Amino acid sequence: MRVRTHTNPFNFHFELNPEDYADQLAHLPDQIMVEIGCGRGVFLRHYAKNNPEQYSLGIEIRKPLVTLLNQRLHKLGLSNASVLYGEGRQVITQLLRLKQIQTLCVFHPDPWLKKRHHKRRVIHERFLDDIRPYLSDTACIHISTDVGELRAAMDETIQAVSWLSQVDHDPFWETQYASHWHQFSEETGRKTWCMTAQVVT
Ligand SMILES: C[S@@+](CC[C@H](N)C(=O)[O-])C[C@H]1O[C@@H](n2cnc3c(N)ncnc32)[C@H](O)[C@@H]1O
Repeated sequence: MRVRTHTNPFNFHFELNPEDYADQLAHLPDQIMVEIGCGRGVFLRHYAKNNPEQYSLGIEIRKPLVTLLNQRLHKLGLSNASVLYGEGRQVITQLLRLKQIQTLCVFHPDPWLKKRHHKRRVIHERFLDDIRPYLSDTACIHISTDVGELRAAMDETIQAVSWLSQVDHDPFWETQYASHWHQFSEETGRKTWCMTAQVVT
């Protein structure tokens, strides 16, 4: 199936109706792993398989991918994972419960390199402040990119947030990380930058 490569997150300016998501929301436990921009679900499937005791929730703005991935998760019998259609910040702040996210992952987000498009990037200070009430008090955020300019911007953003502290040598990157884009970067000789930040209270 052909799927558009980019969707402008600012096209999602409508209010989400929790009733439209009632079936999916009913399955969510008190603590979950959330991946924003799960794409075709390489990480989501890998993580759900390796962490059967946890619930993995993907959020994706390209609807055809959401349908495909939910079908694939069902076929694989991974009942501890699902994907919600929508924009990351909006889904978290309008559909999830407070302090529900134990782990947040954002891998290879769209870089939006033109200056006028920077506001479309997923990781920025306002986004982090908006989602803070939905992160548990020990939550971890895992971020990766192979785009140098985006790396610098995300690094600066995380450092500027007083309630986040960077974690050195997080074994997550050796034991849990998987990403379609990461595989592509390795094949084309691009270096991936990975960072973990933890909530500090
Ligand atoms: C470059 S792809 C990376 C996919 C996957 N994370 C990986 O590492 O292979 C970025 C994905 O994020 C999705 N996306 C971009 N902005 C988003 C947003 N604000 N909310 C949810 N999904 C988003 C895109 O549709 C796309 O599937």
